[in-house]
Amino acid sequence: MIRLCVNIDHVATLREARGGMDPDPVHAAVLAELAGASGIVCHLREDRRHVNDRDVRLLRDVVSTKLDLEMAAIDSIIAIALDVVPDLVTIVPENRAELTTEGGLAVHGNENRLTDVASAFHAKGIAVSLFVEPDAQQIEAVIRCGADIVELHTGTYANARTRAEAEAELSRLQTAAELAAEAGLVVTAGHGLDLRNLRPVLSIPQIEEVSIGHALMCRAMFVGLDMAVREYIQLLRD
Ligand code: PXP
Repeated sequence: MIRLCVNIDHVATLREARGGMDPDPVHAAVLAELAGASGIVCHLREDRRHVNDRDVRLLRDVVSTKLDLEMAAIDSIIAIALDVVPDLVTIVPENRAELTTEGGLAVHGNENRLTDVASAFHAKGIAVSLFVEPDAQQIEAVIRCGADIVELHTGTYANARTRAEAEAELSRLQTAAELAAEAGLVVTAGHGLDLRNLRPVLSIPQIEEVSIGHALMCRAMFVGLDMAVREYIQLLRD
């Protein structure tokens, strides 16, 4: 079965809307794990707009499945990650003006820097995932950097307006997944996935795991987090 990792950033976003303690993303992580999630994802952004340093440290203590710390490859965040020691880091591009992560990481052309970053994490036993567009040039660069995992950006697929656009993007995802898996990378996928658009992605056999945040938390608002996680897991099982 394809594994489900739950991104809890939006719980922290809601907390920040009032600047208090509720809702606590750490509670959400525990509930998601109890409902069967295979991992917890959070993005420590440079501007700390949702998840903060306290959350990441508590999550490290509390998460018993797998903690995936999403982050930009900037020195201040790298230092925190090396100190907290999540199970893996997912390196993403970051832009202060964006609402959410826009586009994949430019790995091609930045191999030297990203190889050094990956080595620093590997020295601490932290696995490294790079979040890229489903593009052969980027996948080949990910392989050269010595990453363990490639997370394929499904945002273009999720935003497709027509069936033809969605199918074209699915085919790019399939080709990228094959290239990455042949080189020995673990292949995961995420961004914009929901209960309606997830099924076709699951037909790509190389994809081992999906990372889902926004749509799952929207659903949780109406049916509860436990039920929302279970619904996604049921779809992955089917
Ligand atoms: N994967 C990565 C690398 C992301 O940056 C995000 C968004 O934080 C997700 C997955 C989850 O995307 P969504 O919130 O649209 O499900």
